Amino acid sequence: MSQAFYFEELDNKIGVLYFDLQDEKVNKFSTPVMEELGKTMKDLSGRGDLRALLFMSRKEDAFIAGADVLEIKDLSDPENGYQVARKGQEIFDYFSRMPFPTISVINGACMGGGTELSLACSYRLVTDNPKTSIALPEVNLGILPGWGGCTRLPRLIGLQKSFDVILTGRKMNHKKAYRVGIADKIIAAEWALEKAVQFVEEILTGNAKKYLIRRKSKGLLPLIFEKNPFGRNILFSKARQLILKKSGGHYPAPLRALEVIKQSHGKSIEKSFEIEARALGDLVVTPISKNLVQIFLWTQEIKRENGTNNPDLKGVSINKSGVLGAGAMGGGIAQLFASKGIPIRVKDINNEALAGAYKQAGTVLKGQLKRRRINKYEYTQIMHRISGTTDYSGFGHAGIIIEAIVEDLEIKKKVLSELEKTCAQDAIIATNTSSLQVNDMADTLLHKERFAGMHFFNPVHRMPLVEIVRGRHTSDKTIATLFNLSKSLGKTPIVVNDAPGFLVNRLLVPYMVEAISLLEEGHTINDIDKSMLRFGMPMGPIALFDEVGIDVAHKAAKILRKFMGDRIAESTILEKLIEKGRLGKKSGKGFYRYSAKSKEADPLIPLIIDKKEHSELNKDEMNRRMVYPMINEAARCLDEGLVSRPRDVDIGMIFGTGFAPFRGGLLKYADSEGLDKVTDALESFAERFGSRFKPSDSLQIFARDRKGFYKT
Ligand SMILES: NC(=O)c1ccc[n+]([C@@H]2O[C@H](COP(=O)([O-])OP(=O)(O)OC[C@H]3O[C@@H](n4cnc5c(N)ncnc54)[C@H](O)[C@@H]3O)[C@@H](O)[C@H]2O)c1
Repeated sequence: MSQAFYFEELDNKIGVLYFDLQDEKVNKFSTPVMEELGKTMKDLSGRGDLRALLFMSRKEDAFIAGADVLEIKDLSDPENGYQVARKGQEIFDYFSRMPFPTISVINGACMGGGTELSLACSYRLVTDNPKTSIALPEVNLGILPGWGGCTRLPRLIGLQKSFDVILTGRKMNHKKAYRVGIADKIIAAEWALEKAVQFVEEILTGNAKKYLIRRKSKGLLPLIFEKNPFGRNILFSKARQLILKKSGGHYPAPLRALEVIKQSHGKSIEKSFEIEARALGDLVVTPISKNLVQIFLWTQEIKRENGTNNPDLKGVSINKSGVLGAGAMGGGIAQLFASKGIPIRVKDINNEALAGAYKQAGTVLKGQLKRRRINKYEYTQIMHRISGTTDYSGFGHAGIIIEAIVEDLEIKKKVLSELEKTCAQDAIIATNTSSLQVNDMADTLLHKERFAGMHFFNPVHRMPLVEIVRGRHTSDKTIATLFNLSKSLGKTPIVVNDAPGFLVNRLLVPYMVEAISLLEEGHTINDIDKSMLRFGMPMGPIALFDEVGIDVAHKAAKILRKFMGDRIAESTILEKLIEKGRLGKKSGKGFYRYSAKSKEADPLIPLIIDKKEHSELNKDEMNRRMVYPMINEAARCLDEGLVSRPRDVDIGMIFGTGFAPFRGGLLKYADSEGLDKVTDALESFAERFGSRFKPSDSLQIFARDRKGFYKT
C-alpha cells in the first residue's frame, strides 16, 4: 500500500502529521491506513523532545471522509466488528496519550472516524472554510461511532449536546462546532498552519486554561439534567421517545447509541470503549445496516457516473440558466439554481406569477437563514441571482433552460419552439413535465439532440431525486450535462427512458390508487395510512394524495391508466372529490380535514365513496396489496429497459418517494421477501381482487431464473 501519513518537524519542535492518502480524492481509514497510523503514532510517542503535534490533511478542502465503507459492508461476524472497533479505539487513543499536546486542525469535511480521531486529540481547531463540516454520521449507516466517539463526545460537550450529534448524524459547520464546544477555536483557512502554530505557542505559554474553562458546561440546565441521576433519566427517556417518534422504531442504531451512552456514563474510558465496541459489532452485521451501507455506496457510484455508457464524456458546465414558468416548480427550480451559485432568469406570462416565484424562493431561504444554514449576506447574494421577465430577454446567455409551464402538450410545444428561436444554438433545453412525453415535445424542435426531461420533484428544495429523461433523439452530451448538473445542484439523478410517468410516478400512482380501492372495500383511512407508515413509508398513501393535490394526482392517474390499462384499479372517488372542491391540503380538505396545526381523516369520506364488497385482510396483506404491485410493475420497467438496472429503481424510490431506506429499496425488499412469495401472493390477489395483480412475465422470469433482482 502506498504511504498515507507524512511527518514534518517545524523549527520550534512542533511536529505536523499530514494525512494524504495517495491516488484518492479524499482521506479515509481502511485497515492498512489504520495500521500505518498506529505504527506512525507508536514511533512518535517516543519523541519526548517534541512540544506539540498538529494533525492536518493535505487534501484540498477535505479533512477525513471517515472509515472505508466498503470494509463495513464486508463485516459479517459481530466478533470481527468488535475487534475492528477495539483496534480503532486503541490507535486513536495514542492521540490522547502522547507526552505532548495533540491538535487536530480541521479544514474541510470531517466525518465519522475523522471526528473520532479529532476527539481523541487534546485540542481541535476548525477553519472558517465554508467546506469545513463535522459529523458523526454513523447512525445513517445503521451503526454507531465505535472508534471512541460515543465515549469521548459526551465527556467533552455533555450529554444533551452529544445526543444531537450522535443520534441524528447531522452535519455542523465550523461555527456550530465551535458553539457546541467540539472545536476550541476557529482559525482562518488561508493561514491554517501559521494560526495552528500560534495556538500551540499560546497553550504552551500558560494560556491553555481559557480553552479548557470554555469547555465546562455552564448554566442551570446542565446542572439540573446532567449532574444528577434523576435529571439524566429524564434526558435519556426523552431522547428515546424522540428517536422512536422520528424513526418509527425502524432504525435500531440511534437507540443502541443512546443505550451505550447511558450504560457507559460515569464508567472508565476503557469500560466505555468495551461497551461501545460490543454495540458496534452487533449493529454492523444487521440487514438494516447492510441496506443503508448499500444505499450509501450506490450514491458514491452515482457520483462517479455521468449517466451514459461513455465514462469520459464531460458534458458542458453550466454557469447561467433560465426557467420558463414561475409556478410551484419554476419557483423551486429558481431557488435551487441560485442557491448553488447559478444565476437564473425566470419567464412567465404574468408578473404576479413572477412575484410569487420570488416570494417562494425567499420563503425557503428565510427558513435556511433562521436555521443558520446561510447568513444574511448569502441570502441577498442568492436572491440577486434570480431575475424575472415576461419576455425572452436574457435567455440568449443561458447554458440551460428548463421548461416548467402548465402541463399541456400543445402549449408546451408552442413555447418550446418560440424558445428555440431566442436561446443560444448550443443551449440545453429540458422539460420538467411529469406526465407528458419528451418525444412528443421534441417534435417541435429543430435541434432535438439537445432536448431531454429533467424531472424535479415537489418541493424542489427538499426532494433529492431528479429523473433525467432520455428522448429518442437526446444526445449523450445532453444526458451527461444534465446528470452532472443535477449532482452539482446537490441532487441524485437517475436516467430513465421516455414513457408515461417515467419511473417513479409509474410505480407510485398504482400504489396510491390501490389504497383507494382498500378504502372502497371498507377499510379506514387511518388503517390504510398507518399500515404503510408501519411499513416505513414517510407518509401514508391517502395522505400523499392530499399532499400532491387530488387534481394533480387524478390527472397523472388518468394518463397512466391509458398506458397501463387495467393494471391500475378503477375508481371514481378522485373525480367526486374534485367536483366537491376537495383538492387536498391546498384547499383545506381532501381525504383529510386540515386545521392550522393538525389533520384528521374526514368522517364524510365513507359517505362520498362508491362502496365495493368488503375485503378481509390481515395487516401484512394490506401492505402487500399496495407494495407488491409496485414490484410487479418495476420488473416490467426493467424488462422494457426503462431503467438500466435494479439499483436505479431502488434509488428512484428511496430518493423520489422516501421508500423505507432501512429496507434497502423496493427491489432489495422484494429479494428479502423472496420472489416466489411475491408471485404467489400476487396470484392469490389476482384471484380475489382482480386481474390487475397478475404477476407479469418479467417478474416470473426474475423469480424463476434468477431468484431475485440482484442475483445473477
Ligand atoms: N407541481 C408538482 O408537483 C410537479 C412535480 C413535478 C413536475 N411538475 C411539472 O412541472 C410543470 C409546472 O408545474 P407547476 O406545478 O409548477 O405548475 P403551476 O401551475 O404552478 O405553474 C405554471 C406556471 O406556468 C406559467 N405559464 C403558463 N404558460 C406560460 C408560457 N407560455 N410562458 C411562461 N409561463 C407560462 C403560468 O403562468 C404558471 O405560473 C408541469 O409540467 C408539471 O407537470 C409538477
